[in-house]
Amino acid sequence: MKLTLSVIKADIGGYVGHSASHPDILAKAGESLTKAKKTGLLIDYHVTQCGDDLQLIMTHQQGEENERIHKLAWDTFVEGTKLAKALKLYGAGQDLLSDAFSGNVKGMGPGVAEMEIEERPSEPVIVFMADKTSAGAWNMPLYKMFADPFNTIGLIIAPNMHTGFAFEVHDVKEHTKITLNTPEEIYDLLIFIGAPSRYAVKAVYSRETKEIAAVSSTQRLSLIAGRYVGKDDPVCIVRAQSQFPAVGEVLEPFSLPHLVEGWMRGSHHGPLMPVAIDDATPTRFDGPPRVTAAGFQLADGKLIGPRDMFADKSFDRTRQWANEVAEYMRRHGPFEPHRLPLEEMEYTTMPQVAKKLAKRFTKAD
Ligand code: F6R
Ligand code: MG
Ligand code: MG
Repeated sequence: MKLTLSVIKADIGGYVGHSASHPDILAKAGESLTKAKKTGLLIDYHVTQCGDDLQLIMTHQQGEENERIHKLAWDTFVEGTKLAKALKLYGAGQDLLSDAFSGNVKGMGPGVAEMEIEERPSEPVIVFMADKTSAGAWNMPLYKMFADPFNTIGLIIAPNMHTGFAFEVHDVKEHTKITLNTPEEIYDLLIFIGAPSRYAVKAVYSRETKEIAAVSSTQRLSLIAGRYVGKDDPVCIVRAQSQFPAVGEVLEPFSLPHLVEGWMRGSHHGPLMPVAIDDATPTRFDGPPRVTAAGFQLADGKLIGPRDMFADKSFDRTRQWANEVAEYMRRHGPFEPHRLPLEEMEYTTMPQVAKKLAKRFTKAD
């Protein structure tokens, strides 16, 4: 059975500040998707949040980039924004960068990750959601899952994974893409994806079966808006088990709270802390950045779950480590590398300050 799993998300208002979503907003989104399920447009859905981002996880048979599905998500965000405004939530409608829907939410602010699949006899999928970070934050975890045998032993000992995976990489500034094969091209791949502010892994495919294994949202809000409007807070869908990495191999990369951009005003690097869904409430210095993992078994398109994968005690040490790294990074205050490099500050007040002081810069030897 051909099935599409769509995850479409947006920050339509924060409670309190940018730290979380209000339960009424989730309930309102649930009502909208219930209607769509009744009409048969959706097979199933799950509404959740990660920090101040509302997450719509939907299954259907309309394919990727379908206008009806995207309109459903857009209308849900627009309705949610009305409620967010009534509750005076912070930054109501923040991610809706356009006034009118024009067929596809891509480029309009919301983040989108979608994959059309042939549902396997048993189909475990993990939906990763992040807050206070940007597209590209999945580069290191996806590399580890699908190309690093120190993370995924299946690459060596599982015959159906031994041929490796192909990585579709997007240059988010030039809007170009390239597909690189692992393991042969890992050095070429790493040159690009090691620079996650510009190159983001959009999708991963099995080289043996050509099936899609993972897909992520790669939109860069600041590039769409031309200014800082909040962080991308990306999502990523990963299929697990059998010809794909085991669930444990999919989660293992997050045992390192790797440094990502997006903390406080989208302008700082900080550790990505894996947390239970209820703990995705970035509060200290609006952070540190969070990642959650909702696990589902698909059953003819029904979303059986979620299981809150990072609620597991085995991630406690990572969280402690993340808090130590957070403390270390914070001590740098306004200095790089806690603060993002100059190029990224282009989307903040930096250009205004530079313009104001331009005349006071005189020639130095
Ligand atoms: C980071 C984030 C927050 C805000 C900060 C200022 O991605 O969302 O750190 O940037 O709270 O928010 P404004 O400018 O909306 O008052
Ligand atoms: Mg916000
Ligand atoms: Mg957010």
